Amino acid sequence: MAKGALKLAIIGGGSSYTPELVEGVLKRLDRLPVKEIHFVDVEAGKEKLDIIAHLAQRMIDKVGADIKLTASMDRKAAIAGADFVMTQFRVGGLQARANDERIPLKYDVIGQETTGPGGFAKALRTIPVILGICKDIEALAPNAWMLNFTNPAGLVTEAVQKYSKVKTIGLCNVPVSMTMMIAEMMACQSDELTLEYAGLNHLLWAHRAWLNGEDITAQVLEKVGDGANFSMKNIFEEPWEPEFLQALGAIPCPYHRYFYQTEAMLAEEKASAEQGGTRAEQVMVTEQELFELYQNPELDEKPEQLEQRGGAYYSDASLNLVDAIYNNRNTINVVNTRNNGTMHFLPDDAVIECSAVVGSAGARPIGVGKLGPAVTGLIHQVKAYEQLTVEAAVHGDYDSALMALVNNPLVPDITKAKAILDDILRTNYDYLPQFR
Ligand code: G6P
Repeated sequence: MAKGALKLAIIGGGSSYTPELVEGVLKRLDRLPVKEIHFVDVEAGKEKLDIIAHLAQRMIDKVGADIKLTASMDRKAAIAGADFVMTQFRVGGLQARANDERIPLKYDVIGQETTGPGGFAKALRTIPVILGICKDIEALAPNAWMLNFTNPAGLVTEAVQKYSKVKTIGLCNVPVSMTMMIAEMMACQSDELTLEYAGLNHLLWAHRAWLNGEDITAQVLEKVGDGANFSMKNIFEEPWEPEFLQALGAIPCPYHRYFYQTEAMLAEEKASAEQGGTRAEQVMVTEQELFELYQNPELDEKPEQLEQRGGAYYSDASLNLVDAIYNNRNTINVVNTRNNGTMHFLPDDAVIECSAVVGSAGARPIGVGKLGPAVTGLIHQVKAYEQLTVEAAVHGDYDSALMALVNNPLVPDITKAKAILDDILRTNYDYLPQFR
């Protein structure tokens, strides 16, 4: 990448997470000469976008940074000449997420933002839109890197890799959150740890953990089994069964609870849907509070209340990646990228989540050796679901959509798969033109 002034385009700039991103930029100005940031959003998000833009401007002014900030509905203008295009949008907003969470629950199936049928519905809405963004990048900023946080991040990144020429890396805050939680339980600094991550997005294991040359995997599993904090704000902390963890021999991510403790997680989801509301419905309240705070003309930093959301360390994860690419640092980051033989049992063009060396040439995955059937079975099945979902989303193909849900480990049988699919297609009619 040519050195010089950097332009960032943030698609979904009106997100309540954006101040986190701005903070990450301002913390790294010595390494990243960001001179222009363009937030873009859709008409329905204009009010939020304006609030975010004013807060971001106050944050920029506070540190006296020389950054031109623009907020608009003009996606093409935002993308033209950008070096990095960061995507963090939500088609249909939080109401669509709430539908994704509630529809499966009607059929006694996990209803979750990214995992199971909820993530499937989100992918169907999102993939056509992101491929449209890719067309703009191909035409107006062909050298730009797209850093995708849009959920379901791995699946969406796979669609971009397969159906566009855009250079892309997918990103999630789960690995950095796991690293921080392991550092806390081992009472060490996060940079003293080496964690061998491999899996898929929101289906990630640390296969081995090292602290100053010592293999601490068993110790970490013991602590997690003993109830050490190992969850995220958005996921119910169902206790792990210690014997199961020792038998598994790899450290699961918080989202694994949906796969390994399905009944307990389903019961918890149903109870909270009846009482405080689904996670999206709870987040709607938090968001409203956040946007009220953001409007305070005195506020010129990211408020602490943002930490109630699930996206902790989101800013560090994303800006460290920009730093690694722009400055060719060749540092190890955990990213979503092309498999390229790393997991021998998956196709080369499958997107996996793993530790990778990241520099100006992009991400080069680090292998973790041969994985046993205790983990490959689940990875294989979820990847089959993801591949089918990409095809369904791109071509509006009902059969692929049905086979995707049938292959999702959280969907128990074809009758439920069909009922859920038909419900999703009906409820999301306005967002799924490809199926008409
Ligand atoms: C975690 C996940 C994200 C997800 C977020 C939801 O950070 O890694 O993929 O979007 O949680 O948090 P929320 O506060 O919106 O429930």
